[in-house]
Amino acid sequence: MLQKINDLLNEVSSISVKNSEELELFRLKYLSKKGLLAELFEDFKNVPGLEKKDIGQKLNLLKQNALEKFNSLKSGFQNQEETIDGKDLTRPSFPYSIGSRHPISIVRNELIDIFTRIGFTVSEGPEIEDDDHVFTKLNFAPEHPARDMQDTFYISRLSSEDSSPEDILLRTHTSSVQVRVMQNQKPPIRTISPGRVFRNEAISARAHCIFHQVEGLYIDENVSFADLRQTLLFFAREMFGKDTKIRLRPSYFPFTEPSAEMDVSCKICGGKGCNVCKHTGWLEILGCGMVHPNVLEACNIDSKKYTGFAFGMGIERAAMLKYGVNDLRLYFENDLRFLDQFKTAF
Ligand code: PHE
Repeated sequence: MLQKINDLLNEVSSISVKNSEELELFRLKYLSKKGLLAELFEDFKNVPGLEKKDIGQKLNLLKQNALEKFNSLKSGFQNQEETIDGKDLTRPSFPYSIGSRHPISIVRNELIDIFTRIGFTVSEGPEIEDDDHVFTKLNFAPEHPARDMQDTFYISRLSSEDSSPEDILLRTHTSSVQVRVMQNQKPPIRTISPGRVFRNEAISARAHCIFHQVEGLYIDENVSFADLRQTLLFFAREMFGKDTKIRLRPSYFPFTEPSAEMDVSCKICGGKGCNVCKHTGWLEILGCGMVHPNVLEACNIDSKKYTGFAFGMGIERAAMLKYGVNDLRLYFENDLRFLDQFKTAF
């Protein structure tokens, strides 16, 4: 009997089948109820006690080998049957490369989403502006350095001594849009103005001559600095996470009084101090303040009746803080290796 089992072991290991009919014949011959294995197990009952151990082991091995052979032949066939003309129809299709939003668009959309949830509308205005909307109505003195050729791209300049309202330039901030809103709407006004701005600056890791801003304006009766602070706290927590802290430092802008700059706690080190926050635990994010009465009056809003707050931030800067990007130029180079990393964000 041992001899027979050994012969069958060899036979099973060398068997090959060409199609599913031959596979079925294999199953019938070895594994079915009336097959060779069943027969051998029947005979095994008559094997004398002493030989039972050896023969039993061999018999089990044969059974195992036959089953394994059957399964491997079967799965071989299944794969083949899913193939047509040598093409594997179960293969995943070619990866279809879909585009992704630019990180600046992602962050701009997020900012719009946060502020529209608390009642702000979105306003837009021209990128090519006049001096009046970018500077004069915003309480910039005629000799203010921000009007200087160093900072502003002038398109046409009628007079270089006293800047006349006809000077045409590329807007240096989207506060110009807020002037247009104040001129055209009556308070209460609650709006944000996202858009592209231009400054005559040398391009470096931290500055660019073209960048994007979102500025906000809220004008109504009894609007206070506390309202400004609470609005900005809400924004910071929505944008950078629930535990984010803010701090306001005194600052100066011609169009706000008092003015402040806002820092958010560094989320990379949790405020403990790291390279990104230069070991201060804080990151500067925006400028803000109470709208200067001169600005309200210049836009025909009664500054005795109404007060307001304004704030403005660079979208590139917000995106740098959010994604830990350390070079602003990456946003403008359109290197796919950089942009592809934002595929999962919307
Ligand atoms: N317009 C300012 C800038 O471009 C930002 C700002 C807006 C500051 C509103 C205060 C209030 O830097």
